[in-house]
Amino acid sequence: MNREELEALAARRRAADGERWHRVSVCCGSGCHSMGAEQVLATLKGEVGAAGLTREVQVHASGCRGLCAAGTLVEVESGPADGAERHLYVGVDPEVAVRIAREHLVDGRPLSEHHADPSDPFFARQQRIVLESAGRIDPEDLESCLAAGAYAALEKAVSEMTPAEVLAEVTASGLRGRGGAGYPTGLKWSTVAKAAGDRKYVICNGDEGDPGAFMDRSVLDGDPHRVLEGMALAGYAVGAEQGYVYVRAEYPLAVKRLKIAIKQAERLQLLGNRIFDSGFNFRVDIRIGAGAFVCGEETALMASVEGKRGSPRPRPPWPAQRGLFGQPTLINNVETLANVPAIVRRGGAWFAGIGTAKSKGTKVFALAGKVRHTGLIEVPMGTTLREIIFEVGGGIPGGRAFKAAQTGGPSGGCIPASHLDLPVDYESLAAVGSIMGSGGLIVMDETSCMVDVARYFMGFCREESCGKCIPCRAGTVQMHELLGKIAAGRGELDDLGRLEELADLLGAASLCGLGQTAPNPVLSTLRHFKDEYLAHIEERRCPAGVCGAGARAEEVRA
Ligand SMILES: Cc1cc2nc3c(=O)[nH]c(=O)nc-3n(C[C@H](O)[C@H](O)[C@H](O)COP(=O)(O)O)c2cc1C
Ligand code: SF4
Ligand code: SF4
Ligand code: FES
Repeated sequence: MNREELEALAARRRAADGERWHRVSVCCGSGCHSMGAEQVLATLKGEVGAAGLTREVQVHASGCRGLCAAGTLVEVESGPADGAERHLYVGVDPEVAVRIAREHLVDGRPLSEHHADPSDPFFARQQRIVLESAGRIDPEDLESCLAAGAYAALEKAVSEMTPAEVLAEVTASGLRGRGGAGYPTGLKWSTVAKAAGDRKYVICNGDEGDPGAFMDRSVLDGDPHRVLEGMALAGYAVGAEQGYVYVRAEYPLAVKRLKIAIKQAERLQLLGNRIFDSGFNFRVDIRIGAGAFVCGEETALMASVEGKRGSPRPRPPWPAQRGLFGQPTLINNVETLANVPAIVRRGGAWFAGIGTAKSKGTKVFALAGKVRHTGLIEVPMGTTLREIIFEVGGGIPGGRAFKAAQTGGPSGGCIPASHLDLPVDYESLAAVGSIMGSGGLIVMDETSCMVDVARYFMGFCREESCGKCIPCRAGTVQMHELLGKIAAGRGELDDLGRLEELADLLGAASLCGLGQTAPNPVLSTLRHFKDEYLAHIEERRCPAGVCGAGARAEEVRA
C-alpha cells in the first residue's frame, strides 16, 4: 500500500457511498447495543432488501453518537455528500425502524416524530476531534474508515517526516495525557525516544476502571483504527515496533472491534512490516485485563501484560526508562493516542489553538447521573461546568436543584454549585480539590447525599485496593468504616479529624496512585459540603434523605 493506492481506495469508497441516495447509519455503540440496536439494524436492512432498494440505500452500523440516553439513534443522510439532507432519529426500536424504512426511505416522507434537533446545544456546543468519525464510519469496515481519512497521518509521517519531526508536532500541540494526571505527552515521548534499550514498547491503556466512565470504551468500539493509528505514530516517533492495547474483559464489543481492526489493517499493510513501503514495522497485540481497577495503574498494567499478578511497584524506574519486560515503554491512554492522528494531519499549532493556556485541545466526557443527556460529549478545554451540564447536558431533569459534579472518579472530587463557572482544565479542577481524571463526570442533585457519595467511593477503593501496602489496605477500610458510622447517625465530631488524619497518611505513604488519591472524594466533600457531615453527626439527620434505611430527609437513628 502506498499513498496513491490509499487515496484511490478512499476515493473509490467515497464515490460508491455518494452513489447511494440514502445512507443510513445505525448507532451500534455499547449504549445503543444494549437497547437493541442490532435488531434495528437488521430490521432496516431487511426492509430495504424487501423493497428492492439495496442499490439506492446503504445501511450500516456506526459507533456512539453521544446521545446514549435516547438510543437507538439512526441517521438518514440523503442526496449528494456535499449538501446532503440529514435526519437524526432517536428512540428507534424495530417498530419505528419499519416506519423509517417505509415512510422515509421508500416514500420520501421523513417521520415527524423521533427527531433530534441538530441546533440543540448538545450538538452545536461540541467540538469533535477524538470523536470526529465515530458515529459516521462503520468501525468494522476499514474502507469506510479510510474514506473518512484513517491512516492518512501515518502515511504522511512515515513517508515525509522523521520520527523527531512527528515528536516535535506532538510537543508543539501541548497535548497532555488524558488518563488522569495530564502529563505532557511530548515530554513522555521524548524520554522514551532518548532511552537506551534493545526493544521499546508502546502500550495503550484502555483499562478504564472508574465507575461511571465509558469514554475510552466508546472510542475503542466506535473508531478502533484511530487508536491503532495513534499507537503506530507513537511507535514511529519513539522507535518501538511492538504495541499492546490493554482492554478489560468487560468491554467485549471493544475487544471484538479491535481484533477485526488489527486483522484488516495488517491485511493492507497499515500495520505489520514495511508500513506504506517504508522501513517502519509496527505490530499491535491485544491483552485483556480481568477488570481490577488497580490494573489501570501503569506499573500494575505492565505486570499484568507480562502475565504476572497486577500489582504496582515503586517508581522510579519509570516505565519510560525500564518498563515492559525491562525495556523503555511508552504508556498512554486511549484518548491521548486518539488525538495524535489529527495532530499529525493538521499540525501541532492547530491543536494548540484550541483550549486554554495550559490545557490544549478538547476533552471527552462521559456524562452520567442526574443530567438529561447522559452520554458522551467532546468539548474544548476551558468550557465551563455550567455550559457542560446545563447547555450540552440539557440540565437536571425533574426541575431539581444542582448540587455537585463529581469528576475524576475515585481519585477525584465533588465540585459545588458555587464553582459552576469554572473553566474545565487541569489546573482549575485541581484548584478546587478535584482532578480532570479520565473524563467521568457524574452530576448530582439535591437527592444525592455527599457523605454517602464519599462512602461509596471509599468503599470502591477498599474493594479495589490490591493490599500490597498497609496505608492503603488498612486505611481505606478504616476510612470507609468511619464514613459508614457517620452515615448511620453514629458519628462524632472527632471522626472528622480522624478522617483528615487518615487522608494525610494515605496520601503520603501509599505506594501507588490508588491509595494516594483514595481520600480525595472525602476531602473534597469535607471542604465543600461540611454542613452535610455536621447534619449527620450533630442532628443525626441526612439532609438528602439517603442515609439510614432509605428514609427521606428524616432523622437517622443508629
Ligand atoms: C489506580 C489507578 C488506575 C488508573 N487507571 C487508568 C486507566 O484506566 N486508564 C488510563 O489511561 N490511565 C489510568 N491510570 C493512569 C496510568 O497509570 C497512566 O498514568 C496513564 O495511562 C498514562 O497515560 P497518559 O499520559 O496518556 O494519561 C490509573 C492510575 C491509577 C493510579
Ligand atoms: S504489621 Fe501487619 S503487615 Fe506488618 S507483619 Fe504485622 S501483620 Fe503483617
Ligand atoms: S496504594 Fe493500594 S492499590 Fe496501590 S499498591 Fe498500595 S495497596 Fe495496592
Ligand atoms: S451508544 Fe448510541 S449514542 Fe451512545
